[in-house]
Amino acid sequence: MSSSNRRDFVKQLYASSAVLAGSLAARQLASGQSDGPGRVLASGSRMKADLDPKVFGAFLEHLGRAVYEGVYEPGSRHSDGNGYRTDVVQAVKELAVPIIRYPGGNMVSGYNWLDGVGPKNERPTVLERAWNSLETNQFGTNEFIDWCKLVGTEPLLGCNFGTGTVEEAVHYVEYCNLDRGTKWADLRRSHGYEQPHKIKYWCLGNEMDGPWQIGRLQAGEYGRKARDAAQQFRIVDSNVQLIACGSSAATMPTYLAWDREVLEACYDQVDGLSLHVYYGNTPNQTGGNSARYIALNLDMEDQIQESAAVCDYVQGLQKSRKRLWLSFDEWNVWYRARGGDHANGKKTFAPHLLEEVYNLEDALLVGGMLNTLIRNADRVRIGCIAQIVNVIAPIVATDQGVLLQSTYFPYLWANKYARGQVLDLIVESGSFPIDPSGIQQPFARRTAAPYLDIVGTLDKQNNQAALLMLNRDLDSEREFTIEWSDVTPSRVLTCQTVTGRDLKAFNTFAAPNTVAPQQLDAPAAGARMTFKLPAGSYSVAHLAVS
Ligand code: AHR
Repeated sequence: MSSSNRRDFVKQLYASSAVLAGSLAARQLASGQSDGPGRVLASGSRMKADLDPKVFGAFLEHLGRAVYEGVYEPGSRHSDGNGYRTDVVQAVKELAVPIIRYPGGNMVSGYNWLDGVGPKNERPTVLERAWNSLETNQFGTNEFIDWCKLVGTEPLLGCNFGTGTVEEAVHYVEYCNLDRGTKWADLRRSHGYEQPHKIKYWCLGNEMDGPWQIGRLQAGEYGRKARDAAQQFRIVDSNVQLIACGSSAATMPTYLAWDREVLEACYDQVDGLSLHVYYGNTPNQTGGNSARYIALNLDMEDQIQESAAVCDYVQGLQKSRKRLWLSFDEWNVWYRARGGDHANGKKTFAPHLLEEVYNLEDALLVGGMLNTLIRNADRVRIGCIAQIVNVIAPIVATDQGVLLQSTYFPYLWANKYARGQVLDLIVESGSFPIDPSGIQQPFARRTAAPYLDIVGTLDKQNNQAALLMLNRDLDSEREFTIEWSDVTPSRVLTCQTVTGRDLKAFNTFAAPNTVAPQQLDAPAAGARMTFKLPAGSYSVAHLAVS
């Protein structure tokens, strides 16, 4: 940046009321008092962080029809000779999902990984107790790894810290990652997998703070178990990256205290901390107010910052050089198909569980949540939308084929277009008030939210930039002007939006395009561009830059 440009840029920044808001994060979310057009400043020399594509990962659990009928359905007209659903493979490939977490979820806390390897005709059918379902084990670790290769993704494996011992978890790592010459490595080879799978990322259990979790532990107990396991995992394979269970939700009574106690026991042995969140347009979280609902990603932002603060607190306590990163390895909207029969398989195989139908407003919030992950890329290295197919998922697979739910599109755009580094945008936007009365904590803390939620990335290698834009104004189009310095858009490659008059509209096999991307009129590319975002919309602009 030339010194005169820099002076101009800094002048612009200070002219913006947003700067007064103080911290970087606050600046990005700041809302001006005015209700007029928004303003965004982007500089090609002001970056927030490198964007790790793994923040756009997903999750596949042995739950309901996710694995069986979703991914694996031998004999189906939609499957290949190995039983993999080719239409689902195609839809996942299209998303270019970078990493997928497996096999659970709550299921992993009662899972015996040995049941799912070896000759299929010798694998036992067992009662899966997290979801009270029949598990035939016809799909297990090796089938998952093969499927990951088909869809072009990296596996993230979870270990059983509920009923499972540290010894069994270490054997699992050895089975997957050790080359040859030991009992467990040679067992894998005898199963037809000569080369080790070399799994890098491992979850040390799942939601071990939850009363619903099989084998739930107290924080100190879990921390010590995680530490012991991690120490041994690293002897098997020094390349592994290990993720400890943080609080399973910000609504937990032990939120943050759990994280602190766990990390005090295992900080030096782990690399990342796991976070989970599911939102809903419910009386407790939003009072049924859709504008409040699509601002819930700002609460996710709080959760990231609060969890990171605990990591840093323990880092300080232990005088450690290491800074932990966050793995937001379950996040999504989930509230309609949640309790009762939706979560009880009644001892049947591949029951219809958690089959949430996503509407337009859900897609807007999912877009906002993706923006939050991007905005916090300095801290979040892995993110997994939960889940990928049939169970709280953007993809639905039935005998009729594949249906793309509304939430598929924001997720597709993030994966396809957000690349390189995250721009440190200054966003000025009018804001709307939120009435917290009747809303329960921790959601009652927010009393206002900005209409515009905008993030941007710059891919210097390919001379491309992307803007992902949420307009929370449900009544009116919102306009904003983005001023670029040190990089100039030269061409608009794509400009699309998901929007509509009915926030509750959703896709069905009969009407699959009810909520689908539409072209958005793009401004001419250049140093100043004015976008007009439709009321209640999530949009993407993909730009060539010079
Ligand atoms: O994704 C559904 C469930 O939500 C997972 O099994 C569990 O980890 C979380 O509570």
